[in-house]
Amino acid sequence: MAGKIITVAQQKGGAGKTTIVANLAVALARLGKSVSLLDTDPQGSLGRWYMTRREAGDPGFEFSTSSAWGVSYECDKLRNASDYVLIDTPPKIDSDLKPAIRESDLVIVPVSASPVDVWATEGVLDMAERESAKVMVVLNRAKMGTKVTQDVDKALRDLGVKRSKTTIGHRVAFPETMGIGKAAMERGKGPWTDEIDALTREVMGLLKKR
Ligand SMILES: Nc1ncnc2c1ncn2[C@@H]1O[C@H](COP(=O)(O)OP(=O)(O)OP(=O)(O)O)[C@@H](O)[C@H]1O
Ligand SMILES: [Mg+2]
Repeated sequence: MAGKIITVAQQKGGAGKTTIVANLAVALARLGKSVSLLDTDPQGSLGRWYMTRREAGDPGFEFSTSSAWGVSYECDKLRNASDYVLIDTPPKIDSDLKPAIRESDLVIVPVSASPVDVWATEGVLDMAERESAKVMVVLNRAKMGTKVTQDVDKALRDLGVKRSKTTIGHRVAFPETMGIGKAAMERGKGPWTDEIDALTREVMGLLKKR
């Protein structure tokens, strides 16, 4: 099996990296895909989420941690064992991120609905371009219909970067479920279900085209 490697990266803290990794993992597992998580963030938020999840039963996927320089070795192992390997990263862009970007079939860059987040995005976009990595920016925590969300939307268009068709709204279901080791879709149906399902389909579609 040659699994696909997906890194979620964004220099700006709190953009939704860990939330997107966790929610994508659950969505992919629910589609019958085998998933491995790799946490390279010393903050360890994804690990806390996973351990909380494990206390309630079988999490549905594997989890491991890695230093930034150990990513390539871990990826060699994990891509043979899973359909998808999802890598969570710390909120900084420096040479430590390169191994994960190099291994990746896709780099997902969440951008929270604020222009400051768009500015922070350029670092990861530059690095991905230098490493010839495929990138998809995902607008997260959007307050639909507000001026600030429209401004961010325009700023992203001006950047001319590949955007997901799916926008993730600002939904309390995400923080509420992260704290109990779950994904928002496991809480029941809501707009978040459609958003994460649509994002998952987009990700799978993009990776098939290679
Ligand atoms: N779509 C959303 N709607 C509402 N809250 C969200 C959404 N996405 C993320 N959050 C919340 O925003 C906060 C930051 O999210 P998260 O921890 O996923 O970001 P991060 O990019 O991983 O942060 P860090 O850079 O610190 O690792 C969390 O409290 C999370 O629950
Ligand atoms: Mg995080």
